[in-house]
Amino acid sequence: TERSVQVKLVLLGEAAVGKSSVVLRFVSNEFQANKEPTIGAAFLTQKCRLEDRVLRYEIWDTAGQERFHSLAPMYYRNAQAAVVVYDVTKASSLEKAKTWVKELQRQANPNIVIALAGNKVDLVQPSPSVSGSPATESEDEADDATATPGENAGAASEPESLRQVPREEAEAYAQEAGLLFFETSAKTGEGVVEIFTEIGTSPTPP
Ligand code: GTP
Ligand code: MG
Repeated sequence: TERSVQVKLVLLGEAAVGKSSVVLRFVSNEFQANKEPTIGAAFLTQKCRLEDRVLRYEIWDTAGQERFHSLAPMYYRNAQAAVVVYDVTKASSLEKAKTWVKELQRQANPNIVIALAGNKVDLVQPSPSVSGSPATESEDEADDATATPGENAGAASEPESLRQVPREEAEAYAQEAGLLFFETSAKTGEGVVEIFTEIGTSPTPP
């Protein structure tokens, strides 16, 4: 009989960075384009069979909305691992991730394994060399730009399609803070299994 290893894991990060989507990709290999915000937290499990062991993940997917922040300690208190997620198209979400890392390093299990995940990397790939599009000297730009201002104003969480966090910057921070680092896409699946496998095989206390 193979060794069975339990991995208690928590996901933290700003609202709408894709925590629930990363977990959904990991446990169901699915993606939902319009995933609803998490309320409180969600609990999910997944098994991963490796050569010499079975990893049994117990995952707390927390809610990123600020009103739920005070609940977080309940979920990270007993965690062996944490995935702190940010959105590569939103610089402020990396700042929020850094505050989660500080909180974990101060309040969580001192042996906790922390991974930083830059999600939504599909939105910045493939990165074709920015074409030197000839500047259009259109006189009636204003007429062309009358695309219903304000119509999308409600879509506050809609990501911009440009990278705001250079990989090197986040990676350097992760190294300095002692974190594992990945860029992921819940949409394409890139990096998702890797992050959970890496965490599950990182040396953790018995
Ligand atoms: P809270 O539960 O409010 O904290 O949000 P969350 O971090 O769980 O984000 P969620 O998974 O709900 O995703 C927010 C939105 O981003 C959804 O519309 C997702 O479809 C979208 N999304 C999540 N991950 C990705 C990704 O990798 N690529 C793209 N293009 N969109 C994503
Ligand atoms: Mg969620």
